[in-house]
Amino acid sequence: MEKVVNLCKRRGFVYPGSEIYGGLGSSLDYGPLGVELKRNVKEAWWREIVTGRDDVVGLDAAVIMHPRVWEASGHLAGFTDPLVDCKSCKQRFRADQVAGTRCPECGGELTEARQFNLMFKTFVGPVEDTAHVAYLRPETAQSMFVNFRNVLETSRLKLPFGIGQIGRSFRNEITPGNFLFRTREFEQMELEFFVRPGEDEQWYDYWRHARFEWYVRLGIARDRLRLRPHAGDELAHYAKGCVDVEYAFPFGWSELEGIANRTDFDLKRHSEYSGKDLTYFDEERRERYFPYVIEPAAGADRSTLAFLVDAYDEDEVEGEARIVLRLHPRLAPYKAAVFPLLRKDGQPERARRIYDTLRRHFPVDYDQAGSIGRRYRRQDEVGTPFGITVDHDTMKDGTVTLRDRDAMTQVRLPEDRLVEELVARIERP
Ligand code: GAP
Repeated sequence: MEKVVNLCKRRGFVYPGSEIYGGLGSSLDYGPLGVELKRNVKEAWWREIVTGRDDVVGLDAAVIMHPRVWEASGHLAGFTDPLVDCKSCKQRFRADQVAGTRCPECGGELTEARQFNLMFKTFVGPVEDTAHVAYLRPETAQSMFVNFRNVLETSRLKLPFGIGQIGRSFRNEITPGNFLFRTREFEQMELEFFVRPGEDEQWYDYWRHARFEWYVRLGIARDRLRLRPHAGDELAHYAKGCVDVEYAFPFGWSELEGIANRTDFDLKRHSEYSGKDLTYFDEERRERYFPYVIEPAAGADRSTLAFLVDAYDEDEVEGEARIVLRLHPRLAPYKAAVFPLLRKDGQPERARRIYDTLRRHFPVDYDQAGSIGRRYRRQDEVGTPFGITVDHDTMKDGTVTLRDRDAMTQVRLPEDRLVEELVARIERP
């Protein structure tokens, strides 16, 4: 884990947030390479879940919603963690994470546990009184329920269908930590898939399987992933069943995504609290009912961390240690890097021209500093899957070498076939 964190800082994937002011708890900033990686993770999700399907549409809703939303959803009353305070050092802990009645830091006496609501509170407008209290959303899910009617009326979708969303959520976590794993501000990738009651179990099975396989297809080792069903006492108040996709992080098996059968809880509650009819008329069955909801809810930051950890590798090339991120080409920040072998004989100009052409299609890097071996190493370390070298032969016959990060094999091909070849390799199944 420490190696991944160091690499992230050193190569510009992730920086400590507000670093020049000493940092701020677990706030983290994505640097130039991290932002590309995370965008690719989100894009892979969006393509799989939204644009790649004809039964799912997208949404991008406001972070601050009407406060009644959180009454209806149950978050105001129940989105809490039990908190204890140390009477001596004043530190706070999640009651379920300390053993015994003494402070794990200083041994002081702990207070009785009290419930602490994890929602960030704010005020809408200039008046800071209770009438103007609002919350930053703790999940993106609720806006999909609140917009259920809108989506139904403005599309021609029939059950089963889903609404997908990627967006920021906020939780005032008592114990954030493990780098990107648990922060107070994070991005979720959530799908609310509405189905006929009675068909919910079959869709629950479908999504459990589909979501597990998504991580595998994007390169995570199957044996470092597992599906863990929630025990009865772990289930959220709205769920009939829930299973987590977990990854074997260096700090232990931990949740990447939860797939829940939320039943008709949310639509019913929002109907009740808003007074608006959120039922669905099933023309085939000639009946009206509240659809059931299957919810695959993933974290963009957590999966980015899992992809990074899983891709991290160290091996030896020609007697030298190398660090390599074996990221799936679709996730890699740069798809390729272009190198002139020599900084003379027109090679840099030729390499630049190739770089400019490729850059119109996908993110590509250009590097002419240092030995070719060192340049390969620099790209291996950030996961660039392909290296293109312009050499003496390029100047004669227009061919370049294409090096594969993992196999470290090289092939020669005409430079005008590069785009086509790279697209095929990036999109590999
Ligand atoms: N709508 C259901 C829901 O929000 P959740 O299990 O609380 O379910 C879904 O959250 C996903 O969001 C988690 O599996 C995780 O990937 C991500 N997530 C939740 N809290 C997080 C945090 N504090 N930091 C980073 N990611 C978080």
